[in-house]
Amino acid sequence: MPFDVTPHLRKDLPPPAAAWGGYPELNFVGGHNNPGSIPSDALAEAAKRVIAREGASLATYNMDNGPQGYLPLRRFLADKLKRYAEIACTPEQLLITSGSLQALDLVNDVLVEPGDSVITEAQSYGGIFGRLRRAGATWTGINVDDDGLKTDQLENVLADMKARGTRPKYIYTIPTLQNPTGTVMSRDRRLALLRIAEAYDTMIFEDDCYADLTWDGSRPPAIRALDQSGRVIHCGSFSKSLAPALRIGFIVADWDILSRMLTVKFDGGTGALEQMVLAEYASEQFDDHISRLRGTFKENCDAVVSALEEQFGVAAEFRVPKGGIFIWVKLPDTVDTTRLAQAAAAEKILINPGADWVAEPETGRHSIRLCFGLPSPETIREGVARLADICHREFGLPERGANVARG
Ligand SMILES: Cc1ncc(COP(=O)(O)O)c(C=O)c1O
Repeated sequence: MPFDVTPHLRKDLPPPAAAWGGYPELNFVGGHNNPGSIPSDALAEAAKRVIAREGASLATYNMDNGPQGYLPLRRFLADKLKRYAEIACTPEQLLITSGSLQALDLVNDVLVEPGDSVITEAQSYGGIFGRLRRAGATWTGINVDDDGLKTDQLENVLADMKARGTRPKYIYTIPTLQNPTGTVMSRDRRLALLRIAEAYDTMIFEDDCYADLTWDGSRPPAIRALDQSGRVIHCGSFSKSLAPALRIGFIVADWDILSRMLTVKFDGGTGALEQMVLAEYASEQFDDHISRLRGTFKENCDAVVSALEEQFGVAAEFRVPKGGIFIWVKLPDTVDTTRLAQAAAAEKILINPGADWVAEPETGRHSIRLCFGLPSPETIREGVARLADICHREFGLPERGANVARG
């Protein structure tokens, strides 16, 4: 009899993972990067240089740089955050993490207990909802408009919660190129958010992982940069600006919080080679790389916008992204996007159904998120055309032969 592990497992595990079957070509899910934009030669040269110079330091955990991560990478980040996001921080206020997903885990580990509540944006990153669920927390979503999170609604929700004796552990926001809506929170809203967080004595968790990807490189200062109090935890990532497989993210926070996170970061340190190669490469070439990458993503974005206009006509409502790698599209109310995603997956086209990217699943039932970082413009055009065919077959929309351009 083969060994049956099932009775030995924890009772509360999610269902087993499927065996890896590879990505289909028409892949519009996940924060993948553009294969042609990976600076392989420059990374190889950086690796050769840094390993020749500092390879011996791999003999110690954390390269003898301490648990916060490779010091030259933290120095690079402190300088870059100042130049790009107006954040004044020292390497001592930075913690390098294994992707920003680990940043989400660490923040939840030190702040959230079962029964706690958290504020999110009404449409937000699917990864935060799964984590809050596992932590036993509940969440309330606040709508976003063109200026980002609606602070008037936030204030009402916090007042209600206060009246019921509840204080949320933190407000999770993706202020710059919000996932999935693509909005950029205005400076005024950032200031209002800080004022409200102070009035209700709660923390802000600012996830800025797309912030380097606005088309023209401009962006409002990070919320962390506008804060004087230390109540803002800021996190970022190199997944979107360089390569997700590197698994390098970071947290900026005051020492009283960082020192607590260090006590729950049990991984023996984030991968050393990734940090060393990244610091070596980025210190000289990040600025040039990111401006080239923005141009590539803009071409992909133009392709997805024109394909949606051509194939879906007025049936697709969306904001034209100001940067980033995804677009949030509202389809007519007769289209159930969970069913659409299943029908598309059966034909090897992957899209994110909206229900996975909203605080209350019902509110995302007619929306989809399309990621355009990975596919080429040609593949994008083909994928959107095939998706429109599937949508028409399943729901009778978009109407065929009546491709009305959006006004
Ligand atoms: C808003 C947001 N935060 C965090 C992550 C995690 O990214 P990573 O762990 O690759 O840095 C993602 C990935 O898509 C994201 O969209």
